[in-house]
Amino acid sequence: MRKIIINGPCEVSGEVDIQGAKNSILPILAATIIARNECVIKNCPNILDVHTSLEILNYLGCKTKFEGSTIIVDSSQISKNEIPEKLMRKMRSSIIFLGSLIARTGRAKLTFPGGCELGPRPIDLHISALKQLGISIDNIHGNLECKIENKIIGTDIVLPFPSVGATENIILASSICSGTTTIENAAREPEIVDLTRFLNKIGAKIHGAGSSKIVIEGTHKFNSSEHYIIPDRIVAITLMAAAASTGGNLTLKNIKTDLISSAIPIFEESGCLIKTYEKNIEILSPETLYSVKEVRTMPYPGFPTDAQAIIMAMLSKAIGTSVFVETIFESRFKHTEELIKLGAKIKINGNVAIIEGNKYLSGAKLQAYDLRGAAALIIAGLAAYGKTTISGADYFLRGYDLSIFPNILTINE
Ligand code: EPZ
Repeated sequence: MRKIIINGPCEVSGEVDIQGAKNSILPILAATIIARNECVIKNCPNILDVHTSLEILNYLGCKTKFEGSTIIVDSSQISKNEIPEKLMRKMRSSIIFLGSLIARTGRAKLTFPGGCELGPRPIDLHISALKQLGISIDNIHGNLECKIENKIIGTDIVLPFPSVGATENIILASSICSGTTTIENAAREPEIVDLTRFLNKIGAKIHGAGSSKIVIEGTHKFNSSEHYIIPDRIVAITLMAAAASTGGNLTLKNIKTDLISSAIPIFEESGCLIKTYEKNIEILSPETLYSVKEVRTMPYPGFPTDAQAIIMAMLSKAIGTSVFVETIFESRFKHTEELIKLGAKIKINGNVAIIEGNKYLSGAKLQAYDLRGAAALIIAGLAAYGKTTISGADYFLRGYDLSIFPNILTINE
């Protein structure tokens, strides 16, 4: 795997445009299958997971084009209803194609998805919900063979946990059907709101996205549309943490403050000055960062689990003790061993991590194990004195456009 090389410390300052949201474009690309038309999607990030989604769409028979930050998908012709394992294993969100493929073709054959190793990544909530819609799903030697028994029937579904992916799969599968489906305890992430905005533009009738109760009135008439992807809130927090860790002053452009409202108090408690404007956010870093009493990850609108590693990297050099509680994933602390190699002082106890800040981190050879862990190692490497090499650059490139860190990251084979 390719390596990232950093010669620290490197101050992160200036201005940066926030890329389109990875976790919005991925389900929306899957949703283009439902349109049976040409869809134009703007503000798309140039990241590996988007290219994997385009590979899946091309394999299924769609025509796709990616020019600049615009993707055009023509899904009028679908020639297959199965996705090969090599494509499914490349990312977690390949499972989102299940809902749209079933809705469009009535059948789907795919394997379990890949994605970051954050502990077990089960899909039991997806499967139990889709079965309630009248979809049969058989696991035959690791292949999920799915088909609509008679027709998809709208129904009331209660999710035991507000799973983002399960919420998205239910929305996609029930968009084309007779009857109304309600999802109770639905995930409330902004990326789900963006997905439903896109679906409603192509003809779906979905209400309540962003709340814990979503209502989908099935319909059969879809058309083409144009859509602009929301900014990536996790990329925004990543850049803010990079600026804070390196004593930088950074202006983020094309970001909406409400997308990261749960993270702003954390930055302020650590001593940063945050100025918010209509479409921009400015972060002014202190000479010395201070610890944060507790960072507890929660489903949206709580503090996002995807930012946990990123803020931990920032606070690795803060004065004092910070406590992290990871409540979403079973094993999302793999980055801590690597941060310790840079001089961070971290103790783990179950889903709790205790960080004693160390103002002077020093460069080291590191290994990334997942997307946001890779981002965390970059942040700490930028703050550390000396050379840091991070193996596993492709994890980072799955979700980040390299242009967000111009001239300070070198990627080599
Ligand atoms: C989405 O993953 C995001 N990925 C993740 O971002 C994000 O961390 C996660 O939501 C939580 O916000 C995309 O949108 C592509 P979940 P997803 O279903 O849908 C358990 C990133 O870095 N669960 O909300 O997989 C699961 O194990 C990625 O951009 C079940 O038990 O997350 C986890 O503990 C990482 N059974 C919890 O629920 C299921 O059927 C949250 O999972 C599904 C999930």
